[in-house]
Amino acid sequence: MDVRGLPTPVDVLGDGMAILFLHGFPLDRSMWRPLASTLAGWQRVAPDLRTVSADLGDRAASGMAELANDAAALLDILAIERAVVCGLSMGGYVAFELLRRHRDRIQALILSNTRAEPDTAEAARGRDDLAALVREQGPEVLVDRLIPRLLSPTSRETLPPVVEHVSSMIRSNTVEGVIAALTAMKHRSDSTPLLSGITVPTLVVAGEQDPIVPPEAARAMAALIPGAQFTLIPGVGHLAPLEEPVATSRVFGEFLSALE
Ligand code: MLT
Repeated sequence: MDVRGLPTPVDVLGDGMAILFLHGFPLDRSMWRPLASTLAGWQRVAPDLRTVSADLGDRAASGMAELANDAAALLDILAIERAVVCGLSMGGYVAFELLRRHRDRIQALILSNTRAEPDTAEAARGRDDLAALVREQGPEVLVDRLIPRLLSPTSRETLPPVVEHVSSMIRSNTVEGVIAALTAMKHRSDSTPLLSGITVPTLVVAGEQDPIVPPEAARAMAALIPGAQFTLIPGVGHLAPLEEPVATSRVFGEFLSALE
């Protein structure tokens, strides 16, 4: 699909209430496939965010806004007035930006393995170091660095196809795309002030062994959102929908059913 001038791969499945799936970094829309295939009865929409392939150039610092505008434009193209917006990690940062800019398009929120706070100075420096490394050695260098942070020890040991899938998503990024994503995340706004004003039904999902967004951080975020539900998925790291698609799908399904 052409979204704001960029050819954008999008998975669209089924009919019914729309769910817009926004993937994490440095992944792509295929991370949602095991989960989305189980959620029959709803329209599932999963685009690649433009950071998978495109250089945001001088717009990289306002990258989250670009990504949120892309998401709203995609809803326009598909004639979806309002969707359940489901963002994992970086996808959650985009969901917060949608809340800021296109609030009326959000019917409900699923915030998976994500946080509302901006980068600390140390995290921002880490992004710069990673960007330099990727510029030098290509996205391949991210595989060994990130797999131990994205997948729990149990998943790494018992789910070789998931390790392979995540590795291949990482490898298929472009250098420019990775740098655009890192820059956008580094410059993202603090979304904490938005939390108390969220009026749509919200589900917060955490992974029991997620080192990137520890469960206590996710629980604290949920506590700041009026009426939010919090669910911990046991045994998983940062990628609950890939590591435990069945358990995660059950949690999502219950939340979605209650919206109808
Ligand atoms: C992600 O999974 O999208 C990233 O780990 C988020 C981040 O680095 O802040």
